[in-house]
Amino acid sequence: MGIHKTITVNAQPNYEVIIGNDILDTIKINETVNQVAIIYTSHVEKIAKKVSKLITKMGFVVTEIKVPNSEIAKNIDVIGNCWNKLGKSKFTRSDLVVAIGGGATTDLAGFVAATWLRGIDFISIPTTLLGMVDAAVGGKTGINTASGKNLVGAFHNPIQVIVDLDNLKSLNKHDFTTGMAEVVKCGFIADERILHIIENYPQECKKYDGVEIPELVTRSIQVKADTVAKDFKETSSSKTGREILNYGHTLAHAIEKNEKYKWRHGDAVSVGMVFAAELALADGKLAPEIVQRHRDILKLVGLPISYKFGNFKKLIEIMALDKKSRGATLRFVILEDIAQPARLENPSFKVLNQAWERVSK
Ligand code: GLY
Repeated sequence: MGIHKTITVNAQPNYEVIIGNDILDTIKINETVNQVAIIYTSHVEKIAKKVSKLITKMGFVVTEIKVPNSEIAKNIDVIGNCWNKLGKSKFTRSDLVVAIGGGATTDLAGFVAATWLRGIDFISIPTTLLGMVDAAVGGKTGINTASGKNLVGAFHNPIQVIVDLDNLKSLNKHDFTTGMAEVVKCGFIADERILHIIENYPQECKKYDGVEIPELVTRSIQVKADTVAKDFKETSSSKTGREILNYGHTLAHAIEKNEKYKWRHGDAVSVGMVFAAELALADGKLAPEIVQRHRDILKLVGLPISYKFGNFKKLIEIMALDKKSRGATLRFVILEDIAQPARLENPSFKVLNQAWERVSK
């Protein structure tokens, strides 16, 4: 019980990510705040009510805004409804938004905060593993449009992130497993200790209350915090720029789009990492043992490592349109070794196809 670790993210201004169990009461609200809007989904109603009670007891006026679950909520109608509610409650620049839910909800609520009066403060309380280790830290907020996912958004940092691991209880098994894809990613791109923990204690990494979960979550958040502190707006092309967080994501985004978003993000990222590893091998950059290590570790936590689809050219076309590609370049984050990310631009069709054949069988 209590705080496991506090990570300070270097930003302007710095903010704290508090990781622990039963720590919702660590929420810090400035006395200058008058009103607080809690944006949440029905999945996490119990948690939202608890936070609402806490904040009311602290003497603030609370507006509860329930939004639909998952990615479908990240749209212009839902955001318009949130703006209307803030308007009706006369939210001022010194008021606060609290986001409670998975990555989609914290993205949406963060964007509400980023846009209301050109930016008000928000606190993020992620309740899914994916939200904890990825979406809640780093300040990317946004919504989806008819043209694609996350195409409208803003960089807007939270003022505090509360990672209460007890909230993982609200998660179904599959959602927990898919969240592990981003944890494994952090292991491959930056922190090999994560990989050792999964290899040595796979059973403890498969359940939300496993003894290794606090350390895995903390290490993953540290990787994210270190990365975004160096390159907040993803403009650096250095080997450690924010783009490395997209390891496995180029093929993953194509799979998600091709499957009309019925595949979970983490499942797609898992296959995408195997593909990126195979690409690096085919291009002579990565040892075959490390490619095998990807498959072994991802299998250990129950993630998929292959994707059967008969039209690779279609996937290449989608990948070339990915917003993470720069201009017309087909661009991948690859590894040259564990924790040694690099870029691979415009690989030949031979290299792409060799990797694809090994991922699609
Ligand atoms: N999810 C990738 C990033 O935050 O940059």
